[in-house]
Amino acid sequence: MSKKDTFFVCSNCGFETLKWQGKCDSCGAWNSLTEQVKELTKKAHAQVNAKKTSSFAELAGKKTQRISTGMGEFDRALGGGLVPASFVLLGGEPGIGKSTLALQLAANLSANQQTLYISGEESFEQVALRAQRVGFQSEKLEFLAERNLEVILESIVNAKAKVVVLDSIQTISSLDLPGVAGSISQVRECTERLLEFAKGKGITIILIGHVTKDGSLAGPKTMEHLVDTVLYLEGEREGDFRILKSSKNRFGPVNEVGVFEMREDGLQEVVNSAESFLSKQADLAPGACITAVCEGSRTFFVEIQALTTTTNFGYPKRLASGFSLNRLQLIIAILTRHAGLKLDNKDVYLKVSGGFKIDDPAADLAVALAICSASQGKALDKHSLALGELALSGEVRKVRKLEQRLKEAERLGYRKLFSVEAKGLSENIRIGQIPDVLKLFS
Ligand code: TYD
Ligand code: MG
Repeated sequence: MSKKDTFFVCSNCGFETLKWQGKCDSCGAWNSLTEQVKELTKKAHAQVNAKKTSSFAELAGKKTQRISTGMGEFDRALGGGLVPASFVLLGGEPGIGKSTLALQLAANLSANQQTLYISGEESFEQVALRAQRVGFQSEKLEFLAERNLEVILESIVNAKAKVVVLDSIQTISSLDLPGVAGSISQVRECTERLLEFAKGKGITIILIGHVTKDGSLAGPKTMEHLVDTVLYLEGEREGDFRILKSSKNRFGPVNEVGVFEMREDGLQEVVNSAESFLSKQADLAPGACITAVCEGSRTFFVEIQALTTTTNFGYPKRLASGFSLNRLQLIIAILTRHAGLKLDNKDVYLKVSGGFKIDDPAADLAVALAICSASQGKALDKHSLALGELALSGEVRKVRKLEQRLKEAERLGYRKLFSVEAKGLSENIRIGQIPDVLKLFS
């Protein structure tokens, strides 16, 4: 074989190069390039036949069939239940409760369909122990401990499973590829093969994936575009509450979330969840401000906690947990420029209570208030609430779904509102410009 008929592939990231090199140019891994043979011969396609096209009119009026997962909160996050033969990715940080949720789901689904729970991480004994804890008995749920993709596919056929839960994509690998389980090339290949298999046979697959520290699914983002639905289980490992969010859904909206509580006997659904993520302190400490965040038709009350300390060395540090760091930096810049708050020699730390992750821009004003409250050392009233989006000009903007938030706030006994509108609760304080924030603490 001539040298030109081969190329080199990084087993870590899938980068391809014609020349061998010790270090991968793309991901920086050492000694990860393996030689592969090019497929030079063109695939013989003797004759190609046209396919019958379909008319949209045939589909009109047909509703997507959905199966209930037996957990209202899970159905809700899926946009109304599981679509048969769909491919769902369930992501989350290690220890957050993915395996527990998946096992409960498998047990529920097995009541109506042949279901197979495959684990590449735990033995039958370990899973059985968890099953006992969660307290279910299911005659129809089958278990398999396996890490090899080819064996898994054969076993699914053998077990005649219609629903498969696979824990996790990072532990399985195919014999056809070099590289260890969890490497990007393996993750991509295994996902593609599972998808092809599931769509061909009409099997529903729920695939678990670990999330790296930066919040992305370990492995490529390419995995996300392959699957039908991506769900994330979020929350604080030490805390009790978990939120199930969908970031992609081919069968419905992505804005509805499910809420669960981690108990002794597994994850239980929480229906009245508005204040679940709030800490149960009697009063707010300096640096704390409450805001109402909308997730679909639900409103959650969370506490933004800020801490400012003098920078001892080098650049001031900014850290955010549950809130975008870029957005925090933006708000600090707005406070510095428009309110004259001196933060250039201060480290700023920001945290959202209960492990809640905020995407809603309506929390901006509460972040600004928390930072001012922390730097001035003055606390806000426990029954107060801040709602507002910040513009770069330092202007405070209206938030969407204001009525929904206020209705819930009134029901829960909030009395004071900081917003641009100056109406809504019994005491309303108008914050039209960012300097008004600082005036509150002077
Ligand atoms: P697990 O589902 O193993 O998390 P993941 O698969 O996401 O890594 O569960 C994580 C934690 O949940 C574990 O530390 C123990 C706790 N837990 C409970 O509190 N109650 C229960 O009934 C179970 C099964 C687990
Ligand atoms: Mg697990």
